[in-house]
Amino acid sequence: GRPLKVALLGCGVVGTEVARLLVRDAAELAHRVGAPLELAGIAVRRIDRERDAELPADLFTTDAKGLVSRGDIDVVIEVIGGIEPARELILTALENGASVVTANKALLAEDAATLYEAAEKVDRDLAFEAAVAGAIPIVRPLRESLAGDAVERVLGIVNGTTNFVLDAMTTTGSGFTEALDEAQRLGYAEADPTADIEGFDAASKAAIIAGLAFHTRVSIGDVHREGITEVSAADVRSASEMGCVVKLLAICERIDTPDGPAVSARVHPAMIPDTHPLASVREAYNAVFVESESAGQLMFYGPGAGGAPTASAVLGDVVSVARNRVRGVVGPGESTHAQLEVLDIGRA
Ligand code: HSE
Repeated sequence: GRPLKVALLGCGVVGTEVARLLVRDAAELAHRVGAPLELAGIAVRRIDRERDAELPADLFTTDAKGLVSRGDIDVVIEVIGGIEPARELILTALENGASVVTANKALLAEDAATLYEAAEKVDRDLAFEAAVAGAIPIVRPLRESLAGDAVERVLGIVNGTTNFVLDAMTTTGSGFTEALDEAQRLGYAEADPTADIEGFDAASKAAIIAGLAFHTRVSIGDVHREGITEVSAADVRSASEMGCVVKLLAICERIDTPDGPAVSARVHPAMIPDTHPLASVREAYNAVFVESESAGQLMFYGPGAGGAPTASAVLGDVVSVARNRVRGVVGPGESTHAQLEVLDIGRA
């Protein structure tokens, strides 16, 4: 097929890895897609940063809006993060006929409906495997593989930083502050770890998971949220005495109420029996445990963050949407039925 033009928005840790692999693996990716993928531009905030030497300097631009408005771009990859300008750029990309791959959990948790509607209107793909739990395939399984089943509950360890902190508290007996210091020293936790330790990052992922799992619209404001800052060494010790570990869980479930089915999505520290598969998730790993009517119990496990793992999920989506363009088809759009009530249920 004719070459497909790819534009990359954002060139941080994930974007750099995506660009590097698009260039390095160009021949192999062309085989898998059925057409060459040509990196046509990379939008960055600052042009004077030092960049990967393998990436042609003339690809870089600070004019993201101009890049997505060109009209000849087939696939736009958004790895800027945050609400704006990411939302406006994605909408412009779709209006100009591009398929979109995004890793933007904050935007999807805030306003997936606008993105889905824009993609639907122009009959283009919107793919976002990298928005939940990095390399772990969980968006596509919920959106496609399990689309014929009835998901009952999803339990996720979807934040690596907090899992690292709680795991360190469990293995060393240390307190929260000491364990967080260690996580920061090892580069797991960010300098400002608020989004992780207060559960905002996990709540975004919970909203995305719940929307996909229950075919309804859930946004971050619907998610009951409690972080791990109040978990003490004594809590972890008493859990251990009961044969349990403390984990920060994203819990998404379908609930039958007298008024009909509803959905609950919440994030809070929870005790898990040592025998549960989620108890074995150590350090900064993520895992998502799915319970569904016909499939039964499934667990998806792996690295939930980092440049290469997240790039794996992004590139999987790029191959998928590029294949669709070669064949002139579009993948799944939004799957919703009548909006289910989202209940605010706190910790039991
Ligand atoms: N800060 C996140 C984590 C990175 O610790 O899992 C991925 O969203």
